[in-house]
Amino acid sequence: MNGQLDGKAVVVTGAGRGLGEAFATHAAQAGACVVVNDVDADLAERTTANITAHGGRAVASGHNVADADQAAALVDLCVAEFGTVDGLVNNAGLNYEAVSWRDDPDDVRALIETNVLGVIYVGTAAARVMVDGGRGGSIVNISSGASLGQRKLAAYSASKGAVASLTYSWALDMEEVGIRVNAVCPLAHTRMVWTSERSLRNCPPERTPARIAPLVLFLLSDDAHGITGQLIRCNGPELHIMGQPYVKQPVLHRQVWDSASVRRAFTEVFAAHLEPYGLEKRVPPTLREWTGVAAPGASWPRRSA
Ligand SMILES: NC(=O)c1ccc[n+]([C@@H]2O[C@H](COP(=O)([O-])OP(=O)(O)OC[C@H]3O[C@@H](n4cnc5c(N)ncnc54)[C@H](O)[C@@H]3O)[C@@H](O)[C@H]2O)c1
Repeated sequence: MNGQLDGKAVVVTGAGRGLGEAFATHAAQAGACVVVNDVDADLAERTTANITAHGGRAVASGHNVADADQAAALVDLCVAEFGTVDGLVNNAGLNYEAVSWRDDPDDVRALIETNVLGVIYVGTAAARVMVDGGRGGSIVNISSGASLGQRKLAAYSASKGAVASLTYSWALDMEEVGIRVNAVCPLAHTRMVWTSERSLRNCPPERTPARIAPLVLFLLSDDAHGITGQLIRCNGPELHIMGQPYVKQPVLHRQVWDSASVRRAFTEVFAAHLEPYGLEKRVPPTLREWTGVAAPGASWPRRSA
C-alpha cells in the first residue's frame, strides 16, 4: 500500500471487470476504503474478495447506476460502511457499434441511461454527501476520445460528450464547495475493446487497464489539489490534456441574419475556417481540393457549377 488515498472512502462504479476493477483494486492498494459497484453483482463480489484477500477494505454493491434510487443507495452504502464519500469514479458504461441509421432505440436508451443518467445520478448523490460533510471531494468521470465523434459509435460518442460537458459544468458549480471534477478518456484492453475488431486493432493486449489507474488515483488524491474541469486522455503510453470546445474567431456581426447574409458568411469568410471533425480529424468536403486530402470513400453529392 502506498498511502496515496489513505483514509479516503471511494466509490467505483462498473468495477467488476475491466477498467473499473483496476481503479478499485489500485485505490484499495493506495489505502482507500472502496465500494466496488457493478450491476453484475457476482463480479463486484469477486473484485471485493480480491481486495480484502490482499488486506484492503472494500464492500460490494450490485446496484444499477441507471436507476436513480439504486444510485442513491449505492452512495448510502459507502456512507454506512465507511462514514462518508471522498471520491467517486463514475466508470460504469455500455457500448455498441452500429451505423447511425441502424441504431436500435432500445439499445440507444439503455446506453444513455447508463452512460449519462447513471453518471448524473451517482455523481449528484455523491456530491450531496460531500457537500453535507463539508470536506469537499473528488469526482472522476470516465469519458472517451470518442466524444469527439467516431464512426459507428454515434450514440456512445454522444453519451461521452455529455460526460465531458457534465464535467465542465460540475467543475464550475462545485468549486465553491471544494469538490474537484475531472474526466479521463482511457484506452485499454477490456471486454469493450474485445467486442470491436476496429478497437482491437488500436489497442493491443499490453494496454492493460492497470496502466490508466495511476492517473485516476492522482485525480482522486489530494496531490491533484487545484486541478479541476479537465479532460485528460491516457491510452497507455500517451498522457495528455484534451482541448475544450471554444468560440472560434472570427465572430461576424449583423443586426439580423437573413438567408443571403448567412450564405455570404459561408462563401466569403467561413469557407476557410471550417474545422476538421471527429476523432479522425476529417477535412470538410469543401476544403479537400485545397488541402489535397482524398475523400474517405464517400460519394459526396457534387453541386453543379
Ligand atoms: N476500454 C476502453 O478502451 C475505453 C475507452 C474509452 C472509454 N472507456 C470507458 O471506460 C469505462 C469502463 O469500460 P471498460 O472498457 O472497463 O468496459 P467493461 O465492459 O469491461 O466494464 C464495464 C463494467 O460496467 C458494468 N456496468 C454496465 N452497466 C452498469 C450499470 N448500469 N450499473 C453498474 N454497472 C454497470 C458492467 O457490468 C461491466 O462490468 C466505460 O465507461 C467506458 O465507456 C473505455
